[in-house]
Amino acid sequence: MTILPIVKHINDVLRTICAPVATVDDAVRKLMDDMLDTMYDAPGIGLAACQVGITQRIVVLDCIRDAEEDEKQPMFFINPEITWVSEEQAEYEEGCLSIPGIYENVTRPAECKVTFLDYNGQAQEMHCTELLATCIQHEVDHLNGVLFIDHISRLKRGIAMKKYKKLKSETM
Ligand code: NI
Repeated sequence: MTILPIVKHINDVLRTICAPVATVDDAVRKLMDDMLDTMYDAPGIGLAACQVGITQRIVVLDCIRDAEEDEKQPMFFINPEITWVSEEQAEYEEGCLSIPGIYENVTRPAECKVTFLDYNGQAQEMHCTELLATCIQHEVDHLNGVLFIDHISRLKRGIAMKKYKKLKSETM
């Protein structure tokens, strides 16, 4: 079990358009295993590779909050692409392991379809609803250098960033 350091400054790494993974090999699987350990340890429900400093299109998720060990449902997405979104929107209070302590309501499409390569490099398509739909959209945003605070008003973002700077100076 390896816990990787999580990037917690809104720096170039978090603003990078991440590169597609060419081959799903053991190195990629090891990275995903470590990302999953890191996510559970944080704890969080989603993590993109750029959040541990690796600018490749890799996401791990487990939207079952506070799951016992035997209820865990880890999901792995390599080169995920959102191919369809619903017109219906949904609002969730989002947070991010890279901006700890900040939570804001974000409105996104309520459902989406995503294509990706799985843990074994097999092509998959998934129809995502509810929290999973929000979560995968949040994570795919990371791969494109976008953060959830980019989806809120400039005014709210300004207040949130002031609060984050204050929190960081107190705790980190
Ligand atoms: Ni995030």
